[in-house]
Amino acid sequence: MQLLPKLSHKTPNSSSGLINFILISSSLCIIYLFLSLVFLQSSNIVDLPSSRDVSPPTSIDHVVFGIASNQNSWPKRKEYARLWWRPNQMRGCVFLDTMPPKTAANNESDNALPPICISENTTRFRYTYRGGLRSAIRVARVVSETVALNHSNVRWFVFGDDDTVFFAENLVKTLSKYDHELWHYIGTNSEIVVQNMFFSFDMAFGGAGFAISYPLAKVLARVFDSCLERYPHLYGSDGRVHACIAELGIGLTHEPGFHQMDIRGNIFGLLASHPNTPLISLHHLDHTDPIFPNMTAITALHHLLQASKLDPHRLLQQTICYDRWFSWTVSVSWGYAVQVFPTHVFLPDVIKTERTFGPWKRGQLLAESFAFDTRRTEPDPCRRPVVFYFDGAGSGRDGVVESRYRRMTAENCSVDASSPRRVEEVRVVSRKLELGVKQLQAPRRHCCDLLPLTAGKVMEIAIRECKEEELIHMHQWN
Ligand SMILES: *[C@@H]1O[C@H](CO)[C@@H](O)[C@H](O)[C@H]1NC(C)=O
Ligand SMILES: *[C@@H]1O[C@H](CO)[C@@H](O)[C@H](O)[C@H]1NC(C)=O
Ligand SMILES: *[C@@H]1O[C@H](CO)[C@@H](O)[C@H](O)[C@H]1NC(C)=O
Ligand SMILES: *[C@@H]1O[C@H](CO)[C@@H](O)[C@H](O)[C@H]1NC(C)=O
Ligand SMILES: *[C@@H]1O[C@H](CO)[C@@H](O)[C@H](O)[C@H]1NC(C)=O
Repeated sequence: MQLLPKLSHKTPNSSSGLINFILISSSLCIIYLFLSLVFLQSSNIVDLPSSRDVSPPTSIDHVVFGIASNQNSWPKRKEYARLWWRPNQMRGCVFLDTMPPKTAANNESDNALPPICISENTTRFRYTYRGGLRSAIRVARVVSETVALNHSNVRWFVFGDDDTVFFAENLVKTLSKYDHELWHYIGTNSEIVVQNMFFSFDMAFGGAGFAISYPLAKVLARVFDSCLERYPHLYGSDGRVHACIAELGIGLTHEPGFHQMDIRGNIFGLLASHPNTPLISLHHLDHTDPIFPNMTAITALHHLLQASKLDPHRLLQQTICYDRWFSWTVSVSWGYAVQVFPTHVFLPDVIKTERTFGPWKRGQLLAESFAFDTRRTEPDPCRRPVVFYFDGAGSGRDGVVESRYRRMTAENCSVDASSPRRVEEVRVVSRKLELGVKQLQAPRRHCCDLLPLTAGKVMEIAIRECKEEELIHMHQWN
């Protein structure tokens, strides 16, 4: 009530005051703009030398691959390489003992595949492991022969077998977390405890794939042949690489996104409970079932790579949410499968790996001692979670990705109103995950919301970063 009369009373003065204000503020603006331009320019000049020191982020251009194969297995296994190799972007070789015979099906001028390099003669090296294969020496030397390709601008050498499938974006993203100018040996050991006891807990198992930083690889290549002479008694190629790197004082940096997969059969449980870190590799896929039902091994992998194209960092990342009305537990393994448990399951139990697979070697003592937490498969099929497999995905504006999952197996179970079996399709909305170095160093599981069932058939889930309050609330509720 007071303000209005006062303002109207001051009207004659306030108009000139306004002009003054505009004049003063606009000249202040001009001075500010001028100063900020000068400052920006000078700060650019000051910044230039230091920005030259900061190297660009690690990309696939900085990686050189060495893939171990032989003339017998390459004609078949090259289909794995075809899935992930990018001919115009990736550098390196697949190393064979001899050139495979030329046939129509075996066309060496196949541009979609890595170039073939023929391994050097290794008959001069001794191999004394009884019952082992002396090709282990040739395969170990893939490391030094890849370094000897003399590629420029290399930060990382990455090695794998012909049945290793790499997820390139996630490989590069994970490596970018490490300083490539230091000595690094990065990979993973086996899923099977006895394999690690026998070989080493600290050895990067070769089939999982492993990375060696440029400076370490250069030094290793120089000493490698004389080092190999000291280890004729070792079994494999990866054991030789591990021994020679250990002599240089370097231990293994474990990255659980690499997967040796010393398991057989149905690997659903392993894929559905991936650690909270990007998927880097899969291996031994000749020894496991196709990862999606009703598909061949290669088409199933191709299907998974379709999901990876839209959101590589989120691939297989597990998110759990609860339906409090029906008491359901929902686990999303992004791009692969959604499981709806008909009961409330505590989160630490959901993230355990379901033992859907068998061990590498049966009948051994401790053969089924896995190097991670597992839970048994529910014996009654009608009390198991309903599984929806990745069907397809699309991306919209602002990095929003919608992925769809549907049932691909049929069980003979009765369905009542509270059964998740009446759900026919699951749709998951998420935002493309862009992991920075900080998120890679301190990874955190995301949260999800279940939207009300539309017409009782389609379940919709939204994935997002968790809020601190809800985590505390969930804790109290449990
Ligand atoms: C090999 O592949 C190339 C390109 O795909 C093709 O042009 C050529 O005819 C093939 N050669 C044989 C022998 O199949
Ligand atoms: C490899 O070298 C040995 C001698 O060191 C020789 O006898 C053998 O023929 C060579 N093998 C090939 C394929 O060149
Ligand atoms: C790589 O460089 C080394 C040393 O300079 C040389 O001996 C070797 O022949 C080169 N290899 C290739 C493939 O160019
Ligand atoms: C299995 O694949 C065949 C051929 O692609 C298709 O007709 C059939 O519907 C599929 N079955 C299921 C359960 O998806
Ligand atoms: C499902 O169960 C019914 C009744 O128990 C039985 O008649 C039918 O054959 C079963 N179907 C399958 C596919 O197992």
